Amino acid sequence: MYPLLIDWVGLIIRWVHIITGIAWIGSSFYFIFLDASLRQRAAMPDGVAGESWQVHGGGFYHMQKYATAPADLPAELHWFKYEAYFTWISGFLLLALLYYLSAELFLIDPEVWDINAGVAVLIGVASLAAGWVVYDQLCKSPLGQNETALSAVGFILLVAVSWGYTQVFSGRGAFMHSGALIGTIMVANVFFIIIPNQKKVVADLIAGRTPDPALGRDGKQRSVHNNYLTLPVLFVMVSNHYPMTFESRWNWLILTCVIVVGGVVRHFYNLKNAGKGEQYWLMPIAGAFMLAAIGLSLPPRSNVALEDIPEVSFTEVRRIIDVRCTVCHSATPTFEGFDRPPGGVIFDDMRDIQRSIPRIRTQAVNSRAMPLGNVTEMTDTERQTLSHWLARGAPLE
Ligand code: HEC
Repeated sequence: MYPLLIDWVGLIIRWVHIITGIAWIGSSFYFIFLDASLRQRAAMPDGVAGESWQVHGGGFYHMQKYATAPADLPAELHWFKYEAYFTWISGFLLLALLYYLSAELFLIDPEVWDINAGVAVLIGVASLAAGWVVYDQLCKSPLGQNETALSAVGFILLVAVSWGYTQVFSGRGAFMHSGALIGTIMVANVFFIIIPNQKKVVADLIAGRTPDPALGRDGKQRSVHNNYLTLPVLFVMVSNHYPMTFESRWNWLILTCVIVVGGVVRHFYNLKNAGKGEQYWLMPIAGAFMLAAIGLSLPPRSNVALEDIPEVSFTEVRRIIDVRCTVCHSATPTFEGFDRPPGGVIFDDMRDIQRSIPRIRTQAVNSRAMPLGNVTEMTDTERQTLSHWLARGAPLE
């Protein structure tokens, strides 16, 4: 009963996370596009800097953007902020439910660093907060005046932190924390800078004061950062189910490549939307970095000739799987907290194992994603044995 309930809680939070995430990123993409689609026309009302005609869902929309604000503020003004806040809240709950409550399984890898779960969780949470503080201070420092220098320093720090995480957590925990850190910075930008600044501007306008242009400028800067960070975060969130990314020994470099790909693709669309043409030359750059990420995910190649690979009997393979995997992957798992086989994957008999051969290769041979957190202490020799067995065509006798 209990594990089933935890699964439901996890599923519902994940559902909320995806819905709020879509709403947030969707509205953010929309406004970026809207901004870029504004055109100046003759006879626009006073204070209007541009307008855009759009058609959607059977109706026509006539959008107008005021350079600062309309002379009279409308009584009803729609804000866009809760999407971002709830994306973070649901994301953090999910992180806590999976990675913090089951730190031994998802967050810690004793071969990386054999730390106590409490300490690991503390490092995780503290790093998210510290990451934001450092980024925020950088933006507010003199460096923040120079967008190119700031981006370069920010990028290098992000790569350094991604590498740092791999020295503390399991591959999966490290990857997820890099994504969570970027996501936290993005939401904190909305919560601490963009929305409060906007509120000050509105308050100034109501009081008849001229708003400080720095408020709008700072908000815009953070909003541009968020724009470039969106795609990499989404990659991290979905890559969770692909051990070739987070389990690669180059996982932090894969992430670096993806940050470049995401940034370059966003840049292409930003230029295009701004009417600066379709800069197709950017695409091969994104493609090259994507290929580099794929290359970095490849398992080390063995140059041992087939006949030199020792023969492995199925009995031996069976023994390894029985000892290391079936506590969880059985119709009746015995590992605490599991009442059903995780992912529906079962290794109870020969047919079960046979059906799962490709997945055993991805999860336990090409990567060390399984056993989770290596709780059953599978040895490298045993992985090697499985690898030899697979190389010899996985014989079932
Ligand atoms: C501590 C329990 C535990 C042990 C031990 C364990 N697994 Fe898993 N396994 C899981 C969980 C939990 C999942 C669920 C998927 C997830 O969230 O990644 C899973 C998923 C899988 C999947 C499906 C992955 C996918 O995304 O399709 C495979 C294949 C797998 N395990 C293989 C193995 C193999 C092989 C071993 C032994 C070498 C093993 N597991 C040991 C808990 C375990």
